[in-house]
Amino acid sequence: MLRQEQNDLLTQTGPGTPLGRLFRRYWIPALLAEELADNDGPPVRVKLLSERLLAFRDSVGRLALVDEFCAHRGVSLWFGRNEECGLRCPYHGWKYDVTGQCIDMPSEPEHSGFAKKVKLQSYPLVERGGVLWTYMGELDKQPPLPEWEFATVPRAQSFMSKRLQECNWLQAMEGGIDSSHVSFLHRGDLNSDPLFKGARGNQYNLGDSRPVFEVVESPGGLYIGARRNAENGNYYWRITQWVMPSFTMIAPRGDHSVHGHFWIPIDDENCWTWSFDYHPTRALTDAEVAAMRAGKGIHASVIPGTFRPVANKDNDYLMDRAAQRAGRTYSGVEGFAMQDQSLQESMGPIVDRAKETLVATDSGIIMARQRLLRAAKALVESDVTPPGVDTEHHRVRSVAIVLPPDQPYKDGAREAMIARPGVAPATV
Ligand code: FES
Ligand SMILES: [Fe+2]
Repeated sequence: MLRQEQNDLLTQTGPGTPLGRLFRRYWIPALLAEELADNDGPPVRVKLLSERLLAFRDSVGRLALVDEFCAHRGVSLWFGRNEECGLRCPYHGWKYDVTGQCIDMPSEPEHSGFAKKVKLQSYPLVERGGVLWTYMGELDKQPPLPEWEFATVPRAQSFMSKRLQECNWLQAMEGGIDSSHVSFLHRGDLNSDPLFKGARGNQYNLGDSRPVFEVVESPGGLYIGARRNAENGNYYWRITQWVMPSFTMIAPRGDHSVHGHFWIPIDDENCWTWSFDYHPTRALTDAEVAAMRAGKGIHASVIPGTFRPVANKDNDYLMDRAAQRAGRTYSGVEGFAMQDQSLQESMGPIVDRAKETLVATDSGIIMARQRLLRAAKALVESDVTPPGVDTEHHRVRSVAIVLPPDQPYKDGAREAMIARPGVAPATV
């Protein structure tokens, strides 16, 4: 459990808050590249870390992420005209370039020069691996671009989706490092979902619902090892990677693609759930990509033209009591993504952590909170760069492995936990 002030600290990410300052030290995913596909295409509203921003691609393809509101009298530039290398406010015609600099004020005397003095807040926006990344912190602290393996493999090997999640980022992220719920909440799907079924590891998951957790600090966050019984006294280990502040990578299954998430605060009561799937050494098949697009695996179907899931809190996530009773799904909600999201949203917009009752299987969650609190304190008090900023911390892999009982996973999986181009993943 957490005291109220600790819970506030971990859940508030607006400008000037400790966690807000922490998040502003990382490159974070802002948009899918396909959202800004065309030069001079429509601008896109983007709310991140409680800041309302606007993204656009200008006439020559330069990407922009600027304050949503016109510096003149606060009109939303979403209504603007994206033309001739800039975005023009539709109210009085002020025009801004991709850096947020005002470059034309047709309402003012021709040679006033006042435009030069007006600039919108702007942040860099850079494409990598099908994602447009931004960095919202101080310029002199800007780190090199992210090097997550999913973003650096050839594009045919990876797939990315995002969906709106209507709760605070932390309770969503905590679901991503809680490997013990898989044996319950997702048990109906392990053997049927096209992106999960057929892996030998599934049987260990289903056969042993009391995993023993061993959580170890890694350079960028945590290795979260969950141990289940395998044959002949050996152990089946699933090792999740958590890299600060909110990257998680779930252990692989057979030759399926590997997946994971980022949870990025929109504001304190909503977040983006980014879901990636990639295979380190082969292209995804057409069937896999079709399944991902259809909302299988960790992805969700969304309402066309939006990123809100089709199953959402307004329709009780399409709860199916008959499926729940028959055991086709454990909770009555269909699909991994919405099984997770429905329960995380059911906690309320910001769960009250003073009321929880944590047990041994929550040790990953407890240690992640401690590490976040520690890093935020060191950043605020002594300007210490937090773990996970260094690109070395991005080159990690999750692992599924069977090891003899006397071998610690830190040793048995040491090599497998490092992302190396062209090297096959360790998976069961
Ligand atoms: S409000 Fe934008 S130009 Fe006047
Ligand atoms: Fe889950």
